[in-house]
Amino acid sequence: MKKQYTLFFALVFLATGFFGVEAPCEVATSAPSAAKISTVPELIVLRAVTGSKQIGNGVEIRSENAVMQVTALRDDVLRVRVGIQGQLPEDASWAVLPTARTASVRVFAEEDSASVGFRTGALRIKVDRSTMRLRITDLKGTLIQEDAIGHPVEFHGSAFRVYKTMAVDEHFFGLGDKPGSLDRRDHSYSLWNTDSFGFQESTDPIYKSIPFFLTSRGGTAAGVLLDNTWRTSFDFGREYSDAYSFGSEGGPLDYYILYGPDAKHVLSTYAWLTGPTPLPPLWSFGFQQSRYSYHPESEVRKIADRLRADRIPADALYLDIDYQDHYRPFTVDQVQFPHFAQMIEDLRKQNLRVVAITDLHIAHLPDANYTPYDSGMTGDHFVKKPDSSVYIGKVWPGPSVFPDFTRESTRKWWGSLYADFVHDGIAGFWNDMNEPSIFDTPNKTMPDNVQHRIDEPGFRPRTTTHLEIHDVYGMENSRATYDGLLALTPNQRPFVLTRASYAGGQRYAATWTGDNSSTWNHLRLTTPMLLNLGLSGFGMSGADVGGFVGSPGAELLTKWIELGTFQPIDRDHASDTSANQEVWVDGAEQEDIRRRYIEERYKLLPYLYTTAEEMSRTGLPIVRPLFLEFPDATADKHPIDLDAPNEFLFGANMLIAPGIYPEKPDTYPVRLPSVDWYNYWTGEKIGENMLTADSSTGNPSGLVGRQITIKPQLDVLPVFVREGSILPMQPLTQSTIETPKGPLTLRVYPGKNCTGSIYLDDGLSFAYKNGDFLRMAFSCVETPKGITVHVGPHQGSYVPWWTSLRVEVYGSTTAGKAVVAGSAQTVQTSFDAPHHVAAFTLPDSGQGEDLQIEWIR
Ligand code: GLC
Repeated sequence: MKKQYTLFFALVFLATGFFGVEAPCEVATSAPSAAKISTVPELIVLRAVTGSKQIGNGVEIRSENAVMQVTALRDDVLRVRVGIQGQLPEDASWAVLPTARTASVRVFAEEDSASVGFRTGALRIKVDRSTMRLRITDLKGTLIQEDAIGHPVEFHGSAFRVYKTMAVDEHFFGLGDKPGSLDRRDHSYSLWNTDSFGFQESTDPIYKSIPFFLTSRGGTAAGVLLDNTWRTSFDFGREYSDAYSFGSEGGPLDYYILYGPDAKHVLSTYAWLTGPTPLPPLWSFGFQQSRYSYHPESEVRKIADRLRADRIPADALYLDIDYQDHYRPFTVDQVQFPHFAQMIEDLRKQNLRVVAITDLHIAHLPDANYTPYDSGMTGDHFVKKPDSSVYIGKVWPGPSVFPDFTRESTRKWWGSLYADFVHDGIAGFWNDMNEPSIFDTPNKTMPDNVQHRIDEPGFRPRTTTHLEIHDVYGMENSRATYDGLLALTPNQRPFVLTRASYAGGQRYAATWTGDNSSTWNHLRLTTPMLLNLGLSGFGMSGADVGGFVGSPGAELLTKWIELGTFQPIDRDHASDTSANQEVWVDGAEQEDIRRRYIEERYKLLPYLYTTAEEMSRTGLPIVRPLFLEFPDATADKHPIDLDAPNEFLFGANMLIAPGIYPEKPDTYPVRLPSVDWYNYWTGEKIGENMLTADSSTGNPSGLVGRQITIKPQLDVLPVFVREGSILPMQPLTQSTIETPKGPLTLRVYPGKNCTGSIYLDDGLSFAYKNGDFLRMAFSCVETPKGITVHVGPHQGSYVPWWTSLRVEVYGSTTAGKAVVAGSAQTVQTSFDAPHHVAAFTLPDSGQGEDLQIEWIR
């Protein structure tokens, strides 16, 4: 049975005679065992305020030798730092942008006999004088977060743990792509980047450490970033039923609190704090074909030819480790790839780009003319052992050495290694194994005592152990790659794919969920993993389509390709021992279904790219849990996703409902929040009479919306569109390099607050930053006789590929006639009854139009 935190502490206090004792920062004899801390040196608990002073944007509080600072960076962003040796931890961060970390807002001091604190324009902060408990409310008094009763903050030697009260209706999201349920409540996690080949639902830790989580209670959301790169741990109600906690084995107690009140605002604030995902190149949203490994050269060409022959739209082919000479990064096996640059050029003529793996382990090859090793040694770029010799560990190339990525100069050197590949025309780079993964050590990574040098603006230059750097090592690897590519081709958006990362790593690389398995359970797992990644700042993500370990059966691969259509990155990838896993492997019938989904993704590219551009400005991910868009979907405002497992939103307007057990023939319920919805495939409105309310489950969660029952079909992934959406779509192409031919289609789904938009640019460069983009806003209003669609004027200087617009009005039951306002012209719409759509095409003048459509009765 789970302990109750409050009760536990009352008993500890009674037993130790602490009640009523004015004991400031003191050493206690008994305390809850902090999760994952095995040796407990002395316990220091922050107890009573012994001194306090207001500082510019907050308050500094002392409890004997301990010091705690609570400051406001903005009205809705707080930072809490605690040190026990009389001073605060170093004011530096790998995750938080300097502009955010040093931001400050005016606050108003508030003190009384019981507490010290302050108020911002949005929050009230109180620290209890006798217990040091931090309590944060909004200005109306709604509780946002409070330290647990008893020992809110405790140190065990250099380890620490912070306890917060947990409401019965509190739910937790984030922490990157840790497998398991979307809601982190009732689970605990450890953050330590780990090569987790073949991970399963309960595997923890895995590849990434994103110490950011979102709390949601009664519809009020907040975020917490524990900015600590050491091994951290998070417990959401496993240890205590009424408290959650976070802590670390070492390093700074430095955390940020981001106030909502809605979750979308928290995510935008998190993007302000750690940086948004930069706008990715358009081609990275195309279909990507990968395998460990396509080799030799003829095999790569064969795959490219087959993609084109079978008319499978695709944009990228991956080269995994076998293209290299003896797995040595930045080399090419000249025997297997005798015409490497020519091959890349030829693939490009087939409108395919190449992404190449470049792992961080540099082969240990003295006197072998291996430039990465030689130049790395000359520049002193590798991490060392305590005896100052270079650390050597075994990975793919055998004995290897490892760049010291926390040094600016080392990152620059690493970036320069890409020059030849960039010159050869390789478009994207894949940084794998960067936890770092090492084969011949007991912990499968570097020994704890490996020495890293920190040479980074904001940090005191110093040498530290691997314990501090481990979790940020992969992120700094991807940063070095990203910055290096930018330096080599400054007007090209880099595409970097990383396996390991830390908070803020979205600034440098997209990510994927690592070595998943070709099982139905893993297909199921991808949705909560990608959703939680998106809630942790990583909106540009994917899971290996088809699964990496093992070989999927025909139906599993088909279902996976269907789902992959609606993931930010759609990459089919398989292991070296897997059977072939390309779209065509199970015969024409399966291939036809799979092709249709990939084609649909290409038609949806304008919508997807517009969503990506929104992500790059706001931090809102491409795939979203339902509660992000529909926080009021349940009567008590709990996240609707808890009742609608595995449903998700693709952008703001499309709801994907794969069902939790897609392998089962049984019907399953789909919950649709609040508004009216349309079936994306049939165009039909999910109206009253289509409701097949499932009386067996009733409506247990007080859902405000609709519930429909789905009968699974192999070739259908249920997709719904929110009423009031206008989706921009394009004619099918086989690659993003091809220019679409025909009109821009606007799919209009009439309903409340009807809007839509499109964003477009050259898809590759940074010219958009100087106005070379195109943006259009759309809206619609239903009228007594039909509907008016407003097409906004072109904004920005980018010249689009279309000259005409095709307007499709869904949910239609009849044809109509359309009049362009201000012109005498009337156009008869076509009417496609099976798809419930009335449509017409008109020239796009670029000036904006009001289109009045009247139904012909
Ligand atoms: C790791 C990666 C996998 C890759 C393989 C070989 O297992 O996770 O994606 O194919 O290494 O490079």
